[in-house]
Amino acid sequence: MRKLVVANWKMNPASVKEALDLFDKVKKKASTLKNVDTILAPPFAFLGELTCNYSGSKVSFASQDVFWEEGGSYTGEVSVSQIKSIGATYGIVGHSERRALGETDVDVNKKVLALIKEKVTPILCIGESSRDEHGEYLNFLQKEITEGLKSVSKNDIKRVVIAYEPIWAIGKSVRDAMKPDEMHEMKIFIQKTLSELYERSVVSKVPIIYGGSVEPDNARALLEGGEVDGFLVGHASLSVTEFNEILTIVNRA
Ligand code: PGA
Repeated sequence: MRKLVVANWKMNPASVKEALDLFDKVKKKASTLKNVDTILAPPFAFLGELTCNYSGSKVSFASQDVFWEEGGSYTGEVSVSQIKSIGATYGIVGHSERRALGETDVDVNKKVLALIKEKVTPILCIGESSRDEHGEYLNFLQKEITEGLKSVSKNDIKRVVIAYEPIWAIGKSVRDAMKPDEMHEMKIFIQKTLSELYERSVVSKVPIIYGGSVEPDNARALLEGGEVDGFLVGHASLSVTEFNEILTIVNRA
């Protein structure tokens, strides 16, 4: 499976000029890579500007969120057809920062289905806020997966990317990120949960990526030991040096 590296810029940078500058340096790097799909998720405000400035095939674009309705009176929301019309081929849904603002599993599921309907690939984020010795967090994750994927057919699940992002590891440093062996266990757990919903042959085709303080210093170990299919990178994606180094590491792995 080809590796995916998604840059989640969140609500950064502050201006379109800075966004174009960052994009320019990342796209140069991405265009040299053979084994990585680089996916950029800039703020909505800059998405069209970046896609207009790109004619290559080595970078894809994602929205950081999307609304499930096709159009109408939904002030502030953005539809799948709108992001698709400006060149996004992926949509992040269920990011913990959206869930923290009130998004539920039911909402996330509607977004997943809306993306699939338009043939835009959902990047479904899941992740527990903390861990407990009784393993309750596993039930929590199982619910996020099962409810997030409700009514997704066995044909369509192949179009979904699962991003496992434990909330306790987000926005910290390498020291606080997940360890490769723990990630490997989580990959097995996610695949087991998926195989309760879909045939195994299909499950093996679903990319499982990791997010939560991915930096050049832990990318390689997480790829090899964690056996992940790529990364969702937050803060390190705003540094050209760090992000391009992560791309190099993943391309070599
Ligand atoms: P981080 O963010 O890399 O800064 O931890 C990841 C994310 O929230 O997607």
